[in-house]
Amino acid sequence: MKKILVTGGAGFIGYFLIKELLKNKDNKIFVLDNMYRGRLDEEFKKIISNKNVSFQQVDLTDSNIFTSLDKDFEYIYHLAAVIGVKNVVENPDKVLRDNAITTLNLIEFAKNLKSLKKILFSSTSEIYAGTLKHFGIDIPTNEKVKLTLDDVNSPRTTYMLSKMYGESIMFNYGKKHNIPFTIVRYHNVYGPRMGYLHVIPEMLLKISKHKIVEVASPEHTRSMCFIDDAVEMTIRACENKITNKEILNIGNQDQEISIINLTKTIARVLKKNIDIKTLPDVEGSPSRRCPDISKIISMTGYSPKVNINDGIKKTFDWYKDKLHNRYE
Ligand SMILES: NC(=O)c1ccc[n+]([C@@H]2O[C@H](COP(=O)([O-])OP(=O)(O)OC[C@H]3O[C@@H](n4cnc5c(N)ncnc54)[C@H](O)[C@@H]3O)[C@@H](O)[C@H]2O)c1
Repeated sequence: MKKILVTGGAGFIGYFLIKELLKNKDNKIFVLDNMYRGRLDEEFKKIISNKNVSFQQVDLTDSNIFTSLDKDFEYIYHLAAVIGVKNVVENPDKVLRDNAITTLNLIEFAKNLKSLKKILFSSTSEIYAGTLKHFGIDIPTNEKVKLTLDDVNSPRTTYMLSKMYGESIMFNYGKKHNIPFTIVRYHNVYGPRMGYLHVIPEMLLKISKHKIVEVASPEHTRSMCFIDDAVEMTIRACENKITNKEILNIGNQDQEISIINLTKTIARVLKKNIDIKTLPDVEGSPSRRCPDISKIISMTGYSPKVNINDGIKKTFDWYKDKLHNRYE
C-alpha cells in the first residue's frame, strides 16, 4: 500500500486528483479539508465511501490535528488554500493567515516523516503577475523569471504573496530538513465541478441564459488547461524523482485563446446563437498569460492532450443540469 495525503481534497483539483489516484488499487488516500470551499456533494461522498479513502473534515491551521495523523505517508499533495478573486478581495487577512499557517503546519509535520518521498506544493501563475506588470516578461513564461511583489497595500497582492511564501517554505525547510519537494505553478485549469466563479462556468451560465452576452477584456488571452491533463501532470511531477526541488509550470501552452474567442467557442458547444457586447478591459487583468511548459514535458514525458473544444464540451456536459443550482 502506498499512503498518500491530499490536503484540500474536496476542492476542484483535489477531487479529480483523488479520483485518478484511486485507479491504482495500491493507493491508500487520506483526505483533509475544512470544507471552506470544498463540497460534500454526491460525487465527493462517492469518492470518500471508497475503502481506500479516509476523509477528515479538519482545519489545517490547527496544528493539533497533525498529532493524530499516520506518520508513514510517501506522498503529500498540498492543495489546500484560500483562493479566488472574490475571497482575496474580501478576505485578504484570511488569505495571508490561512495560506501561511496551513503550509507551515504541514511542513513541520512533514519534517518527521521518514517514509516521505515527496511533498507537492501548489503554487500559481499569479506569482508572475508583478514582474509581468512592472518589467514585462517573455510569454510563454518559464519558471526562471525573477519574481516581483506588486503593491503590498493591495488586497489582491495577498494571494501571490502567500504563494511566494509557500514556495520559500518548501525551499528552505526542504534544504534544512532534507524534505523532498516539488512546486507546481498551475495556469488556468478548468473542468467540471469547479464552482461558478471562474471565467468558463461564468460564461456557460451567461450564454445559456442570455442572447446578448457581455464580454470584458475581449482580446485578453489565457491558456486553458483541462483538469485531466493538469491531474496527470501533477501526479507525474510529484512521483518522479528527478523533479525533486524543482518548480514546474502546469498548464497548456497550445490552447491559448482570447476571451472573445472563448465566448464564441462556448456558444458553439452550447449550440446558442448569441450577440456579443464587448466591454472595456478589466483593470489589473494581464492582457496575456501563457506558461512555457517545456520543463515539465521534458522531465515527466507528458504533454497535455485535451483541446479547448473537447474540454468545454466535457465541462458543459457536467454543468448543463446544474446551471440553475449554482454554488460558489
Ligand atoms: N484551479 C486553478 O486553476 C489553480 C490555479 C493556480 C493555483 N491553484 C492552486 O491549486 C490548489 C487547488 O486549487 P483548486 O482550484 O482545487 O481550489 P479549491 O478552492 O477548489 O480547493 C482548495 C480546497 O482547500 C480547502 N481549504 C482551504 N483552507 C483550508 C484549511 N485551512 N484547512 C483545510 N482545507 C482548506 C477548501 O475547502 C477547498 O476544498 C490551490 O492551492 C490553488 O492556489 C489552482
